[in-house]
Amino acid sequence: MITQISGVSELSLRLAKQYIMQGEAVAFHTETVYGLGADARSDNAVRHIFELKGRPQNNPLIVHVHRDFDITSLTDHIPDYAKALAKAYLPGPLTMVYPSTGKVSALVSCGLDTLAVRVPSSPTAQAFLRAVDVPIAAPSANLSKHISPVTARHVYEDFEGRIPLILDGGRCEGGIESTVLDCTGETPQILRAGLVTREMIAAVAGECAVYVPQKGEQPKSPGMAYKHYAPKCRTAFFAPEELATAKELYLQEEQKGGVPCFFCEDELARTLKGFRVLDLGSSGEEMANRLYELLHRGEEEATLLIGVCPKERGGVYEGVLNRLTRAFGG
Ligand code: TXA
Ligand code: MG
Repeated sequence: MITQISGVSELSLRLAKQYIMQGEAVAFHTETVYGLGADARSDNAVRHIFELKGRPQNNPLIVHVHRDFDITSLTDHIPDYAKALAKAYLPGPLTMVYPSTGKVSALVSCGLDTLAVRVPSSPTAQAFLRAVDVPIAAPSANLSKHISPVTARHVYEDFEGRIPLILDGGRCEGGIESTVLDCTGETPQILRAGLVTREMIAAVAGECAVYVPQKGEQPKSPGMAYKHYAPKCRTAFFAPEELATAKELYLQEEQKGGVPCFFCEDELARTLKGFRVLDLGSSGEEMANRLYELLHRGEEEATLLIGVCPKERGGVYEGVLNRLTRAFGG
């Protein structure tokens, strides 16, 4: 199979629709990361997604719909706070988990009685979802455990010859996956931190909890149980206070003939004169935007990536820290 990379056009949308109806997977740009989409109503199409990614069978998928799609066909319970959040932040990088009416393949939710629904804001995603006009199950378009893709090229590197089409919308601005929010309870609860922050949710819903799985418990968002977002090179991760040890490791790697590289926020990067550095930037948004792009670059150029944890907490930093610690193995 030849994998075509194409921007949105009448022809590419027609092809995308054809492929989706045939049960194939089509990758598409979103404002967070690229998605790997298939017809959520079809068992075979959904199974195909799991096979393509090598994804564990107990990690459910998010269903993507266009902005005018009637989501009351997918769930029969949307609490008032969820309506208010949808009005404030959708379309956008917020995925909401509802009780499911079972209208899509049961494989999407891996046996859970809930369904995660997302309305992406990317014009490419909207054009694609409108053209197909069916709910699209889509995980991030990377092989399971590998770094999430923020360019069409990243998708191509993981799936060349295995999918027919990548709808190219340029580099993903958001840079980390959507916030996953459990909306099945009386108040909202964050299952995966992202660009729509706890503070933003609380400002609209009045309150917002953050789910922390208890030891030994099956997490509510099963994807959070896995090592993830991992580059192919070796990694090490340090707290800011451990900088001296991190530098020692850097020099050891260089003496062995390897190519070490720091991976840290701008404030620290500017002090690391004479060291190779991938600079994440300063604000939470900037770090989210650069994170996966730089991890992809790091795995190509370095033998050892040495991450140093940013200092700030709260807001978008929470999502960035979650991805960073998991990419670097904690
Ligand atoms: O930004 C995004 O969300 C991207 C783009 C492509 O839309 N998609 C994405 O999908 O990140 P994926 O499959 O890589 O991550 C989906 C996350 C996983 O952590 C999964 O466990 C959780 O959503 N999830 C899906 N359905 C769920 C459900 N019914 N209940 C709880 N968590 C769910
Ligand atoms: Mg993913």
